[in-house]
Amino acid sequence: MSWIREGELTIIERFCANIIKAGPMPQHVAFIMDGNRRYAQKCHVERQQGHSQGFDKLAQTLRWCLNLGIREVTVYAFSIENFKRSKEEVDGLMDLARQKFSRLLEEQCFLNVCFAYTSRHEISNAVREMAWGVEQGLLEPSDVSESLLDKCLYTNNSPDPDLLIRTSGEVRLSDFLLWQTSHSCLVFQSVLWPEYSFWNLCEAILRFQMNYSALQKARDSYLEERRQQEMERDQAYVTMKLQQEGFVSHGDSRRRQTLLQKCTAMREERIQGFLQALKHKRADFLERLCPVSA
Ligand code: FPP
Ligand code: MG
Repeated sequence: MSWIREGELTIIERFCANIIKAGPMPQHVAFIMDGNRRYAQKCHVERQQGHSQGFDKLAQTLRWCLNLGIREVTVYAFSIENFKRSKEEVDGLMDLARQKFSRLLEEQCFLNVCFAYTSRHEISNAVREMAWGVEQGLLEPSDVSESLLDKCLYTNNSPDPDLLIRTSGEVRLSDFLLWQTSHSCLVFQSVLWPEYSFWNLCEAILRFQMNYSALQKARDSYLEERRQQEMERDQAYVTMKLQQEGFVSHGDSRRRQTLLQKCTAMREERIQGFLQALKHKRADFLERLCPVSA
């Protein structure tokens, strides 16, 4: 029996879920599950118990998300900063992860777990990968763009989160998905993570729904601007080529059109080649990190 799929909503929860589902729903929700230690302190239990209950809450929340038709969830399970905590706590969290990860992997993969992660590290790594691509001759410097950086992030297979929720009353992102959440609805809730309820999730979704059209508008206008910028970049490249060929001003329009198509196709080909090489490079790295025994 699936561990996430166990458990149904109550009648009243089902009723409210159906009402909420009549509005626009977030397809991808990210969580900063904060407040485990404060919860442990409040309940006079061991810190590890707070983290363990935090994990159980994650399982329950995933069940609610499935019931609400949310297709993808991303959680901040452990930041690089968390390594600065006491050895005892870090070891405890690692043990918890070891015990629970195999169970998580058995589930249908709509969950992304960010472990030993920070966003600035992810972004600078993506920049380094693009620099490597240029160094290897796989990319031209002008291929480096925001859309290529998107593709070099660890999250390249997922759409950006529509909604990001942080619990425990902290109102900061703590280096989580900084690039990916610039057009997401950010909801900060005061509840401690182990006490998170179905109703807290509904409240966050309602806030997303109230802001839906403004969020969509901002995202669409950003994408349009980006498309425009990329077109201008290709136009500038073609103008330079035409000038090199001795054409003055804007040159012959048919020649310009042909060059533009050629430039776009070649850029696409270089980018695909680079992404393929990057995929192999990352697979090799993972293979060296945790070799699969023969
Ligand atoms: C934040 O609370 C929580 C964490 C640093 C760990 C998050 C981990 C879990 C919810 C369980 C483990 C999950 C997996 C996938 C194995 P905090 O420790 O910062 O508490 P505080 O804000 O009250 O100090
Ligand atoms: Mg905290």
